[in-house]
Amino acid sequence: MKNAPVLKLLFATLAVAAAVVASAADQKPLKVGFAQTGAESAWRTANSESMKAEAAKRGIELKFSDGQGKQENQIRAVRSFITQHVDAIVLAPLVETGWDPVLREAKRAGIPVIITDRTIQTADESLYACFIGSDFVEEGTMAADWLAKKVNGTGRIVELQGTPGSAPANDRRKAFAEGIAKYPGLKIIDSQSGDFRRTGGKEVMEAFIKKHGKEIDILYAHNDDMALGAVQAIEEAGLKPGKDIIIVSIDAVREGVQAVVDGKINCVVECNPLFGPKVYDTVAKVFAGEKVERKSFNKDELFDATNAAAVIASRKY
Ligand code: AHR
Repeated sequence: MKNAPVLKLLFATLAVAAAVVASAADQKPLKVGFAQTGAESAWRTANSESMKAEAAKRGIELKFSDGQGKQENQIRAVRSFITQHVDAIVLAPLVETGWDPVLREAKRAGIPVIITDRTIQTADESLYACFIGSDFVEEGTMAADWLAKKVNGTGRIVELQGTPGSAPANDRRKAFAEGIAKYPGLKIIDSQSGDFRRTGGKEVMEAFIKKHGKEIDILYAHNDDMALGAVQAIEEAGLKPGKDIIIVSIDAVREGVQAVVDGKINCVVECNPLFGPKVYDTVAKVFAGEKVERKSFNKDELFDATNAAAVIASRKY
């Protein structure tokens, strides 16, 4: 037939066009639901920004929910992600327990869940794909070791705990207590929650000062926001933070490191919140059915008077 080569070319072109359309459909953007704890601290703000900015960069459709510090809000968010048929759910759990029922619902719907930032306690490890975050036990140990050296193993400590029942509050508290147990001269004389908030840190520190006065030698705060609130309370009481009261805290947000440079906080242990890229790399792998590390921890550092000034300009959060 005379037209055969022309028809052949036309069919070939149509086949290529169909393949292009099919592959474009295959590559439709991933839809990810992220149930965040809330907005309690500068660390949390940096974490939310990292998750949002990286999603935008990769063309991921992100459904972001701010739990406002309530587990029931986070559970409701996860349920709504399930009904919206997202491709994956990322959960930063406010507290350690109480997640199994909603995680079972996600599993039944065939939606993988990636736990970030804070670990959970579960009777069934198959309910989530993997964990990405910092090692809170290591952070508590680093704080205790640094402090013991700084004060030669002697001093009366007040502790500002994070949100009750949360993994960072539980782990940082236990690891620090175990770390200082080697030094009989180091004693925790009071310990209360400031809920990881600056206002909480200030209020609780005011109460500590009222109750213990000059008995307090050291403050251990589970995050920088509470330490910064406490700095204010200490100054308002006519004392010098960093001198009259030695302060060690966790996070190393820019304002915390600046306080070290200014001599108002003595040491900050880092807890890096910028793990958006790592989370979405993992989401893509899990979605593609590839194997991922079960638990992956960020590498954290420690800043004190010896190195804070050198890093302050390059702090990203
Ligand atoms: O889970 C991480 C902790 O939560 C950070 O140390 C704290 O600042 C935050 O609110």
